[in-house]
Amino acid sequence: MWKHPSINEIKRLKMKYVDIFDQVQELVNEWDPVGLIGGGAPDDEYDCITIQLIDLLKQGANQAEIFEYIIHELDDHFGMGIKAIDNEYKESFIYKQTEFSNLLFEWYKRYETSNAVQIDHSLYLPQTILNVVGEITNITPINEGRHYQTVHKLETHSGKYIIKIKSREYPGSLFDEVERLKWMQGKLPVPKVISYEEEEGKEYLLMTYIDGCVASKYQPKDGEKSMGFILGEALRKLHDVKIDGCPFKQFSPDNLTAMVRKNILEHMDEVNEVVRTSFPDHTLEQLMDFLKSNKATNDQLTFTHGDYGSGNVMIHNGDLNAFLDVGEAGISDPYLDIYYMIKSLTVYSARQEEVSEFMNGYGIDVLDNYKMKFHQIMDTLLL
Ligand SMILES: Nc1ncnc2c1ncn2[C@@H]1O[C@H](COP(=O)(O)OP(=O)(O)OP(=O)(O)O)[C@@H](O)[C@H]1O
Ligand SMILES: [Mg+2]
Repeated sequence: MWKHPSINEIKRLKMKYVDIFDQVQELVNEWDPVGLIGGGAPDDEYDCITIQLIDLLKQGANQAEIFEYIIHELDDHFGMGIKAIDNEYKESFIYKQTEFSNLLFEWYKRYETSNAVQIDHSLYLPQTILNVVGEITNITPINEGRHYQTVHKLETHSGKYIIKIKSREYPGSLFDEVERLKWMQGKLPVPKVISYEEEEGKEYLLMTYIDGCVASKYQPKDGEKSMGFILGEALRKLHDVKIDGCPFKQFSPDNLTAMVRKNILEHMDEVNEVVRTSFPDHTLEQLMDFLKSNKATNDQLTFTHGDYGSGNVMIHNGDLNAFLDVGEAGISDPYLDIYYMIKSLTVYSARQEEVSEFMNGYGIDVLDNYKMKFHQIMDTLLL
């Protein structure tokens, strides 16, 4: 029935159950079934039992199964089980093992609930976030995020959430997204910020879960609007938001130009290389002149998304459900978004046919080629 683990097997399982091993070892040593710890034995004396108990718990064993295993193992491996005990001590022996089986089983139930997240080794969440969401019933990683930023869907008794985690080692901050989501709340459909925490060099952003699918995966049913049209309509809505009091200006035309100048100074060789390959008929000076003469004027500026790709818009029931990934939103030239969406449809995906739909939804017949070229140059020179 039970096979006593070899030393190598114990080592392997200790690694496998690293999240829980120390805590169960402590419980087993306190229980000290045959008095070895009390007699001065080292902490790892019962590791063979500890490992098998964890194995049983993880397989969903109940108190009775744990008890049955303990009775067998104490006899079989230690030779100090029920068979070796005088009749007068049998009752208290059974009581002690029953008590421990119950204690361990109850402890594991509590552990599973309060540490539901830690059972998934890839995901640790601060206690403050766990307190907000309550018991987590399911965790699904979403693999569309950047490599240094993880995104998970959390299902709980109180609802569904998205948790974004980013390490401080990498540039940028999730706090930019928090501020913008809060500013946009009530003006545009966006996820609601539930909590933002920083702990040990990591940022945690908890927000409401938005139903639907990202625009890039949207398949309209008969009679529903096309993906391009929805993206165009949605962008018109976003660009129509009043910008009075909007504090976010990181991509204003002046700031974009300053970023390009900085890049030229710091990465001269790379900039010259991209000019040679992307604009073979132009010199860098000509491109800079073009930027200067075609910069959007203040009265042309609107609220912009700043990263308007088809992976950052949620569609549900054939319509816009929310804008996502708004960490770069702010006041800028509306063609910043128009340029990036057309790039997203034509370069990042082969959805050329959606471009005219997008323009229809946005409400323009022709693209301003000067503005498109302005952003193409910016995009190239920003590397
Ligand atoms: N609130 C939300 N509700 C539902 N799904 C979400 C939500 N936020 C993010 N997602 C999903 O997670 C994906 C990645 O999220 P997001 O775009 O915000 O992060 P990112 O790491 O910046 O990704 P990217 O690499 O696209 O820039 C989205 O494309 C979407 O599928
Ligand atoms: Mg994104």
